[in-house]
Amino acid sequence: MTFPIDRPRRLRRTESLRRMVRETVLTADDLIYPMFVVPGQNFKREISAMPGQYQLSADTFVRELDHISTLGIRAVILFGIPENKDPHGLASCHPEGIVQQAVRAAKKEFPGLVVITDVCLCEYTSHGHCGVIRDGEVQNDETLDILARQALSHVEAGADMVAPSDMMDGRVAAIRRILDENGFGGTPVMSYAAKYASGFYGPFREAAESAPQFGDRRGYQMDPSNVREAMHETALDDREGADILMVKPALSYLDVIAKVRARFDRPVAAYNVSGEYSMVKAAARNGWIEEQRVALEILTSIKRAGADLILTYWAPDAARWIKEGI
Ligand code: PBG
Repeated sequence: MTFPIDRPRRLRRTESLRRMVRETVLTADDLIYPMFVVPGQNFKREISAMPGQYQLSADTFVRELDHISTLGIRAVILFGIPENKDPHGLASCHPEGIVQQAVRAAKKEFPGLVVITDVCLCEYTSHGHCGVIRDGEVQNDETLDILARQALSHVEAGADMVAPSDMMDGRVAAIRRILDENGFGGTPVMSYAAKYASGFYGPFREAAESAPQFGDRRGYQMDPSNVREAMHETALDDREGADILMVKPALSYLDVIAKVRARFDRPVAAYNVSGEYSMVKAAARNGWIEEQRVALEILTSIKRAGADLILTYWAPDAARWIKEGI
């Protein structure tokens, strides 16, 4: 059957018809909001490269959660920026560390909120790399032990889920093991399974104060050219027991999201990263594009590609836009 019998425009004629046949519908349940916590009190500073996003002290962060939960956001992921950095990033494992304090404060006030923590060393190391350095190289196996201890201390503070973003080999198994040995067998791991060495992380490095002091992350994060390798990386994390598999960044990797969705039967997350957010903000400020329309189009495309969950700086705005029925 073809034209003139078949006319796809028939189902596009009214908003009600379009809604009836809509295949992908974004909801607040799909969204995870990344937030940045810093030491201090009553502190809130906008990240200049990420308009509308802030570094927050634990008390200000908890106040912000109030607003976020009324919008229907169910989950946040926390990044901590410590007072002091050292070569091994040991502040990341401290029970009174910034993330641990923020988690405790958040769970006290909002027990129903899903508090996820990013597990990595780059915000905590003086050199800004995601692992321990020896002979000019990030040491994989030595780093695993610190990552596992960091994950455990987050969970001991009350984190509902941990999300390792370091890209060391074997870290999901190391984290699963330490959690299980310490009675946290019920705490899920969301792994950054296919994480690429991406220029789109630029603005985040200001937010997390985590730019590498020398070299770059290509020795551990993935080459943007590779997709078979992404399947291999994801399969490893799947076998090591990751409960949710993440692809990062999202927008330039929609093909990777679709392939992970097709091949694995676990929930798939995608990280709509800082550069993807800031580009739209900058263009919108210049009046070149409409932020709301473009943001919702981006988030819908990430879901359409196969993501069940989307980590995005637009989470509160998107939840509000959805609520207002736009
Ligand atoms: C590493 C980490 C990074 C991001 C999340 N976790 C930066 C990096 O790998 O260089 C980037 C997130 C973003 O750009 O929004 N701990």
